[in-house]
Amino acid sequence: MEQLSSYLCRYRNYNFAVGVTTAEYIDSLQSFEIRDSDVFLVTYPKSGTIWTQRIITCLYDLEEQVEEQVEEQVEEQVEEQVEEQVEEPNTLERMPWLEYREGRSDYALRPSPRLFASHLTPALMPPGLKDRKAKIIYVMRNPKDTLVSYYHFCCVWAQLETPSSFQDFMEQFLAGNVGAESWFDHIREWHSKRDQYNILFLSYEDMILDLKTAVTKICRFLGKNLDEGAVEQVVEKATFKNMKQDPKANYKFLPTEIMKGDFMRKGETGDWKTMFTVAQSERFDHIFQQQMGDTPVRFIWDTTGMS
Ligand code: A3P
Repeated sequence: MEQLSSYLCRYRNYNFAVGVTTAEYIDSLQSFEIRDSDVFLVTYPKSGTIWTQRIITCLYDLEEQVEEQVEEQVEEQVEEQVEEQVEEPNTLERMPWLEYREGRSDYALRPSPRLFASHLTPALMPPGLKDRKAKIIYVMRNPKDTLVSYYHFCCVWAQLETPSSFQDFMEQFLAGNVGAESWFDHIREWHSKRDQYNILFLSYEDMILDLKTAVTKICRFLGKNLDEGAVEQVVEKATFKNMKQDPKANYKFLPTEIMKGDFMRKGETGDWKTMFTVAQSERFDHIFQQQMGDTPVRFIWDTTGMS
């Protein structure tokens, strides 16, 4: 890996935080065997990853519970059941990062259905995904709010450099010199290659506007047979307020040496207006137009008054 700074290194056009993965491991993903039941959540950082991770893991957990209840009824167990106090894994262990093994055992040995999160680009993902059987959910967020969220994140995440100023961070973001790659490239690459994958595109803003519809879409895409009551339970668990209070969902389980703040920061759209000056916003719009003018993807920059 090419060292870019004491915080970032570059491999195959992607910026990784130093020390979190290796070139060999990233290369090994090219022969990582994909199963039809695999599910990948792909995002650019700060686009609503842990939110969607929570929704997907809840949908799988609920379906398992429903199946278990049905099995119990069929077996007509009459003996008194001893409640098993099994510790429910947190979202990260339920749906770990593909690109970071972080000491976990070989992902190839995980039982199906395997759930993974990733910020990787199409070129770095396992080619088996192109069989279009395993599922990908791609969540995007308007880039001004993504940038603001990323800026605050870099101020509290020990593995990334604390920005010297918002202006400086904005320049790094526009140039693609932050963790991952250029936001513009990430969206363009995934969107332009969408026909090669079994992929559902969602936006953070749509989730803010109508979480129930978003959860229903995810549920259908994943082929989960859950009734409206179950969907509503997932919606309830995935609200900002409830996730903020739930240490299994909000990544509060991470050591404070790594995360000095909160993944659940504001959870709003249009927060960029509190950070961007008029000149910064105009410069951003100009570059956005240059980079994204020819793509059909449309973004919602603020949801105020829309719901
Ligand atoms: P803000 O920093 O703007 O508050 P990621 O998980 O990709 O790192 O994205 C983090 C962003 O998603 C943060 O945005 C966080 O607050 C927001 N987020 C997480 N859970 C959310 C929820 N349930 N509802 C709304 N936003 C949520």
